[in-house]
Amino acid sequence: MTNPIELLNHRYGNTSVNADIPWNDSLTTLLSHRSIRSYLPDPLPPGTLEILVAAAQSASTSSNLQTWSVVAVEDAQRKEKLSQLAGNQAHIRQSPLFLVWLADLARLTYIAESRGLPHEGLDYLEMFLMAAIDATLAAQNATVAAESLGLGTVYIGGIRNRPEEVAEVLNLPPHVFAVFGLCVGYPTPEQDVAIKPRLPQSAVLHRETYKLAEQDEAIAQYNEVMKAFYGSQQMNIQSDWSEHSVKRVAFAESLSGRHRLHEALKTLGFQLR
Ligand SMILES: Cc1cc2nc3c(=O)[nH]c(=O)nc-3n(C[C@H](O)[C@H](O)[C@H](O)COP(=O)(O)O)c2cc1C
Repeated sequence: MTNPIELLNHRYGNTSVNADIPWNDSLTTLLSHRSIRSYLPDPLPPGTLEILVAAAQSASTSSNLQTWSVVAVEDAQRKEKLSQLAGNQAHIRQSPLFLVWLADLARLTYIAESRGLPHEGLDYLEMFLMAAIDATLAAQNATVAAESLGLGTVYIGGIRNRPEEVAEVLNLPPHVFAVFGLCVGYPTPEQDVAIKPRLPQSAVLHRETYKLAEQDEAIAQYNEVMKAFYGSQQMNIQSDWSEHSVKRVAFAESLSGRHRLHEALKTLGFQLR
């Protein structure tokens, strides 16, 4: 599917889209995104991992500090272990390459200590957030690069369910945190995964100042679009998007163990002052 109007219609669930828009192949790749959860066992061609990492390293990075790293996991046993720690998600086992994206303040700590220099700034929440942002921007560049090569991907936030155990499996030193995983592989061709609609732009795009109550109509419209989408994809979700999403944040237990993230980060050496 390369027709911009068709892609935009899928992205917004057949709402009317202005036909007068700029377009190119990069936009086709971006707007074609869908998460893939079923993979062929085929390994990736030689050089693929390296070009994905080059794309990741081409992302902007705060002050060029490059406070991120990535662990490429291909070993079946290690993927199995990580899959179990991330809520037993089968696609982690199935994908030939599982990338774990890291907020990495260990490298700067190491450099400072090896030169006998202070590094108090690394103890602050700001630096953790910076590292998490850097890791995210890098990962998304790799994701787009992978999709441009015909590969499928899915992010794995489940890797934060049990951070200390993940750190052990990956031999992470203190001051390194696995922000999320990313399955990478060739999608199984028999599963034609649909593009998942997003909120109307009138909900997320604010001009000059932010407006909350004015989003009601867009949210109501999206609830209808998503009800139809859940039905067409046999997703077994009885509620609408609003109810489904609010359930995801209803209680501490709804966070699949991640409600104790603050404690886990402290254990992993982040002061978060
Ligand atoms: C940070 C992050 C973590 C995610 N974690 C998971 C996960 O653990 N398991 C999973 O199957 N999908 C996960 N996803 C994928 C989202 O569910 C998916 O992106 C969303 O439903 C939109 O669907 P789409 O990517 O197909 O457009 C994650 C996505 C992001 C951005």
